[in-house]
Amino acid sequence: MISHEYIEELVRRNDITDIIGRYVQLRHRGRTPTGLCPFHSEKTPSFVVYPETQSFYCFGCGAGGDVITFIKRINNLDYVEAIKYLAAQAGMPMPDEDDQVGRLRSRILAMNKLAARFFYDQLNQDTPQAQQARGYWRGRGLSDATIRRFGLGYAPDSFDGLQNHLRSKGYTTDELMASGLVKRSEKSGRLYDTFRARVMTPIFDLRGNVIAFGGRVLGDEKPKYINSPETLVYKKSKAMFALNVAKKETSRRYILCEGYMDVISLHQAGFPTAVAACGTALTADQVRLLGEYADEVILCYDSDEAGQKATARSLGLFAESPVKVSVLNIPNAKDPDEFIKKFGSSAFERLLNGSSNAIEYKLQKAKADLDITNPAQRAEYLKQAIEILTDHVSPTEQDIYAGRLAEETGVSKQAVLTQLASLQRTKYRRKKRQQQKDLLNEGLASDIRIPYGTMNSQQALGAASAEQYLVVAMVKNPQFIPQVVESVKPEQFLGKEMQSIYQAIVDCSQKQMVPDLTTLAMRLPEEQTNLLAKLLARSYEIPIAQRDVQMYLERIHRTQPQSAQAADMNAQQMEDYLEQIRRKKMGNS
Ligand code: CTP
Ligand code: MN
Repeated sequence: MISHEYIEELVRRNDITDIIGRYVQLRHRGRTPTGLCPFHSEKTPSFVVYPETQSFYCFGCGAGGDVITFIKRINNLDYVEAIKYLAAQAGMPMPDEDDQVGRLRSRILAMNKLAARFFYDQLNQDTPQAQQARGYWRGRGLSDATIRRFGLGYAPDSFDGLQNHLRSKGYTTDELMASGLVKRSEKSGRLYDTFRARVMTPIFDLRGNVIAFGGRVLGDEKPKYINSPETLVYKKSKAMFALNVAKKETSRRYILCEGYMDVISLHQAGFPTAVAACGTALTADQVRLLGEYADEVILCYDSDEAGQKATARSLGLFAESPVKVSVLNIPNAKDPDEFIKKFGSSAFERLLNGSSNAIEYKLQKAKADLDITNPAQRAEYLKQAIEILTDHVSPTEQDIYAGRLAEETGVSKQAVLTQLASLQRTKYRRKKRQQQKDLLNEGLASDIRIPYGTMNSQQALGAASAEQYLVVAMVKNPQFIPQVVESVKPEQFLGKEMQSIYQAIVDCSQKQMVPDLTTLAMRLPEEQTNLLAKLLARSYEIPIAQRDVQMYLERIHRTQPQSAQAADMNAQQMEDYLEQIRRKKMGNS
């Protein structure tokens, strides 16, 4: 049995927004991040995370609970497996194991920090090497302030400079190897520093930990860049260079570049929302992460063919993302870094505000792939263009592009607009149908289940809903528990689910435990945890006062005679009783 204290610590260390954000593209608006539910298919977000109660709830399918419930469901794990998973995430030892992995993870972070400090200090030595390295950064137009802000440095031309430094701080060979800062020669078996004679760029995570490095040669040798290998603290597919800086900006318009240098140049030139993937092609995880902070992303890749390929590929990745994407083609320079150097930052600003347009880009691409002098391919172009223009395009823009399409294809503008409207109606109907389906799944009333029908149904509904509010009141404000427990016994609850949730609350309070969602989830079946999360979600913004609690209690007491009668019955008697009532009702009508 895992102790209650342990679970509490676990939940405290796994922030629900962080964890869910790894699976769901959350939008941080106001107090409650929302997103598309991972447990059912939907097009409009009805999945909400409640940081204050550390719970989630989907208004579409009714899934809900705490961070443990979420991990159980999303990864198909049992309770203990989910605990183990979250423990590993938080770097906590399992109650009975000792935490070697978590310890190593913090040792690596500490080594990285020391290494960043070391590289920075090396850059400022009074040696010819260091002077050359400083000259390199300056030659690339970086000011001392930028060098400091990004923690840029220099790895000296030595096989063991960093290694010796880290050993002097007490790190072992195994730890050095695990950090990726040191490698072992296959031939001699000797250890050597990974980064030598390179200018260094540290990569930070969102909390400001140094998780990796990129090192560039000072000249034209190959390979141009060496990056840290993946380690316990560095997953390339999830890291985003300079996002730790960009996320502090109020602007939600991000600039996504290919290289570290582009990002550093852009920040220096006054574009602090520039970010880049780290040494790999963009991944779906990075797109999701960006979507948490950005409303708009401008793809600003290199102007060479590789950059254009990467642009097309990235546009595909953004198709599912809620952010607005546009593409910036960089004229007369190979990348943003070079552009800024040649033409200055206000020219770049104009570029950003002017052209960038995803529709334009997609249309041009469709056209480039086809030969529109050929009638069949021209028709295909028209078809693809109309498809593009029905996807999040404003009426004004539609009108402009319809005119242009008409000129290009020789079809009348009116005909283009008619086809556009028709496709749009089809898409709209499809969407409505889906929304209706989503609505049907919702079934808000279905969680009030009353097992018998002697009292009038209005009164029963009133009591059942009072039970729900009462439970919510106790979970949100534990100070109400004593007076409720004093006044109502679990058997007096009408709804079976609410009865067992209330029973769990009573059990907790007898053990002097605070019945928060996590504590209750340990004692309840999953459906009831879902239900509880749902109730908490629905009343998230509603404050509950003493007099409300009083009112709920009164309402429950008013319906007691019948429930006492019902509580005495066994299942068979209940069935008979219900049947009797049904017949009576039919006879009356
Ligand atoms: N990259 C890499 N390994 C390489 C080359 C590139 O990891 N051998 C990654 C780096 O993250 C780099 C990005 O790809 O920042 C873009 O590559 P490139 O355009 O060649 O680099 P630039 O940023 O233009 O570098 P520089 O301006 O210093 O030449
Ligand atoms: Mn480049």
